[in-house]
Amino acid sequence: MSRLPFAGRIAVVTGGASGIGQACCELLAQRGAKLVVMDLQAEKASEVASAIGGHAYALDVADVEQVEAVAKRVEREVGEVELLISAAGVLQGDALPPAQVPWAQYNRVFEVNLRGTHAVCAAFGSRMAARGRGAIVNLASISAMRSTPLHAYGPMKAALVGLTENLAAEWGRSGVRVNCLSPGPVLTPALQAAFDQGQRDRQTMAQNSATGQIASVNEVAQAAAFLLSDEASAITGVNLPVDHGWLVATSWSTFGGLRPAV
Ligand SMILES: NC(=O)c1ccc[n+]([C@@H]2O[C@H](COP(=O)([O-])OP(=O)(O)OC[C@H]3O[C@@H](n4cnc5c(N)ncnc54)[C@H](O)[C@@H]3O)[C@@H](O)[C@H]2O)c1
Repeated sequence: MSRLPFAGRIAVVTGGASGIGQACCELLAQRGAKLVVMDLQAEKASEVASAIGGHAYALDVADVEQVEAVAKRVEREVGEVELLISAAGVLQGDALPPAQVPWAQYNRVFEVNLRGTHAVCAAFGSRMAARGRGAIVNLASISAMRSTPLHAYGPMKAALVGLTENLAAEWGRSGVRVNCLSPGPVLTPALQAAFDQGQRDRQTMAQNSATGQIASVNEVAQAAAFLLSDEASAITGVNLPVDHGWLVATSWSTFGGLRPAV
């Protein structure tokens, strides 16, 4: 018998063509799952899927009718989906004062990060609930848990934590667990490029966390895989920070900063 934890299980990852979503696809595939990579970037999704022997579907999660149609196709063409990671998301861009946030940008953050996650959970989670088995992980953010100058992104991520709690209660008796992760800064190719081009300073960013480190995409993927696994069978409705202790460390600046290693 296979000892791989996800052997024979079908997993959908939205936003699977890049960053955290891609790392989740690769890790779940290594652990035996059959992957369905969904993304706005069809070509990149196909590349990720073919490298791991998975399937790729082009999808804009903001198009709620398309989400339901793609869910139907996936279940017909690949099989019954048991695992879902909703990682598709857009950043807000500049940290503008509230009156200057363009409404088009605000609406896009809403329709992708919040409504899109709702639509994907509704489509796949309802099917899991009807079969009495499944697990879902949504990607929130530490900006859901603390004030930041991201006036669209932060409140949407906070609402996503609320959505996760609602769905966990909604489908608890139907055997579907729903949790979310709140990463701090994550070393994605986009952040690495910002370091390389001098737009962000790695040292400054890292010193805000308790451990002095920035999470890798693989560290976030490992947390997602844990929450999807049977090892987390008693865990539903939680928001797990994956932040190298950013949440606990930032307030220390008021007291002169963190102490160096003993
Ligand atoms: N990188 C970080 O530091 C960080 C921190 C906290 C939370 N997050 C969250 O993690 C998730 C993944 O972020 P990432 O850093 O890996 O980003 P990324 O840009 O590398 O990947 C996001 C993926 O989502 C896809 N996508 C965007 N809009 C979409 C849509 N409408 N429909 C389908 N796919 C769409 C993109 O094409 C891309 O492949 C996001 O929800 C993000 O908000 C990231």
